[in-house]
Amino acid sequence: MGRVAALTGVTVRTLHHYDEIGLVRPSARTAAGYRAYAAADVERLREVLAYRRLGFGLREIADLVDDPATDAVAHLRRLRGLLLEQRDRAAALVTAIDRELGARAMGIRTTPQEQLQVFGAQLYDVIGSAYPATRRTEPRIAAQVWDALGDARTVLNVGAGTGSYEPPDREVTAVEPSAVMRAQRPAGAAPCVAAAAESLPFPDDSFDAAMAFSTVHHWRDPIAGLREMRRVARRVVVFTYDASEAGWRDRFWLARDYLPEFAALLTDWPSLADLTRAIGGRAEPVLIPWDCADGFFEAYWRRPEAYLDEHVRRAISVWTRVGPQAEQRAVTALRDDLTSGRWSDRNRDLVALDAAELGLRLLVA
Ligand SMILES: C[S@@+](CC[C@H](N)C(=O)[O-])C[C@H]1O[C@@H](n2cnc3c(N)ncnc32)[C@H](O)[C@@H]1O
Repeated sequence: MGRVAALTGVTVRTLHHYDEIGLVRPSARTAAGYRAYAAADVERLREVLAYRRLGFGLREIADLVDDPATDAVAHLRRLRGLLLEQRDRAAALVTAIDRELGARAMGIRTTPQEQLQVFGAQLYDVIGSAYPATRRTEPRIAAQVWDALGDARTVLNVGAGTGSYEPPDREVTAVEPSAVMRAQRPAGAAPCVAAAAESLPFPDDSFDAAMAFSTVHHWRDPIAGLREMRRVARRVVVFTYDASEAGWRDRFWLARDYLPEFAALLTDWPSLADLTRAIGGRAEPVLIPWDCADGFFEAYWRRPEAYLDEHVRRAISVWTRVGPQAEQRAVTALRDDLTSGRWSDRNRDLVALDAAELGLRLLVA
């Protein structure tokens, strides 16, 4: 044990602990009868240590290394993907820090919004704890997603968050880069790998289907992420937003009348045609029910008072991304219009609708 500890750089105590909890048990015997690490144990220990270094918890690691469907080569491939991802993220952070240092040197202060926008997972490490308050499965939309998954038995859920749309009757593997979101997954939820869409740590065609719900707009490179989904799964299902049609923005009163900053968040966003092309599929509309259970940006289109609630807004990334000034201005204007009756006058036609078409789309390939 001492030699293995010296070679790996972990303490003998750690190795004892792994032995005690059954994570890595030395199975060979020395001539003197002491327990020793056989070649297979060393291989397992290396996997455990690598996953540990990537930030996985011991219980999560036990599930990963005990998975009979994953052999040593598959583990090495997955670990390689995860490490490359970590390297890319570190490089992106260094670039962002350099940019901010340069700006500060010139006396320019970056806004909180700019600081948070480095990339999606970081944003969710900041705002993620507010998420479960109002974000949950909307059964009618879930039915549409699950229907689109067809007869897929194994499903990869990318940008899984707390797993609101994971089908209960299939074998799900989740991918989620934000540690805060991973930690909020309910007990008994599908196993979750710390990785990002742009570099999925799985071999080609590993899953019957890959799904992504309300996450693509957070990815650093949506097209690369969608191609990755296409690579690892035979079927792809993505719930997203059609930003190519300015008409949708005008259709949703919140963006149109109170939060014009929403449009700026979409300037670099690929067109629906580009997104659909990346997976080689088609797009179908998703109507938002008037009493939508999942509190995403458009969910309260017929319940405008909801947007005055801080808890509702904190679980919607748009509000953090537009920054506190725009948020306060929009909320004050909306409150005034609700009090004066101006909102009702302007949006009279909505009361008669049970579901609204606000540009949300299900891409299916
Ligand atoms: C609005 S939440 C949606 C979560 C979940 N799909 C749901 O519907 O409840 C967006 C999620 O995307 C994740 N995310 C951000 N960047 C990502 C990336 N590059 N790859 C995969 N997921 C990412 C965030 O950490 C966050 O959990």
